[in-house]
Amino acid sequence: MIDVAFRGADIRPAATAVVIDVLRATTTITMALASGYERVLVAGGLDQARALRADGRVLAGEHKCERPPDFDLGNSPEETAPPRGAELILATTNGAPAIVGAVAVCDEVLVACLANEDAVVEALASRAGDILIVCAGTNGDATVEDTYLAGRLSARLEAPKTDAALIAEAVAAAYPGPIDALDVSAGATQLYIVGLGADVTFCAQESITSVVPRVTRTIGNTAVLEAQPETEHMLEESVPASGSIDAAGIGAEKQHP
Ligand code: MLT
Repeated sequence: MIDVAFRGADIRPAATAVVIDVLRATTTITMALASGYERVLVAGGLDQARALRADGRVLAGEHKCERPPDFDLGNSPEETAPPRGAELILATTNGAPAIVGAVAVCDEVLVACLANEDAVVEALASRAGDILIVCAGTNGDATVEDTYLAGRLSARLEAPKTDAALIAEAVAAAYPGPIDALDVSAGATQLYIVGLGADVTFCAQESITSVVPRVTRTIGNTAVLEAQPETEHMLEESVPASGSIDAAGIGAEKQHP
């Protein structure tokens, strides 16, 4: 069964969750791994992200779409290339908490954006069990851009659909293309206001990478994402799960299947 949660608050247990925050968290995570970061540490909040800071780690995130002054990077996907370290720590308002929330109740958590749409469809086609497409939304509300991609993914999957999935498919069919759906959203409006309109154009690009970020483990309230080694390309480039993560002081490490 394919189901859609329109807001982070609607996350429920499922075999596979696919978290979407097109503008911009899941696009940034995907592009960071595609650019060469070995992993992305998605923190539950800005202070948790600060506590993870260490040599070889780059601190990225946003508050009201803008880079906190003490952070190295904001939440712009283009800023992730070239990598400035081995690991990117990311804290954002909606996307990061949606990932952390999905990890708490779902067996497997993947991350989707328009930039990796084809690869996500390919990955989901091989999954058995319920698939919950999670739209991060904005500040507790549903958003056009996340629902749009949820509908595109649902429409490409052969499986029974819930009414929520069919509603998302109808939203996806209502827009001629990605930029049309993104441009009408409140998230895009906010990005234009703060001078980050170029990110909207960037996030509207379709299937420019085969990287599918996957949560491989959690450390306290932090989800560790690595490129899913499903394609030959990723098998060549992926790194072992044991890396430089230092769990000291941030809680017990838990493997995620
Ligand atoms: C979020 O997680 O709330 C978003 O990614 C916000 C943003 O565009 O930076």
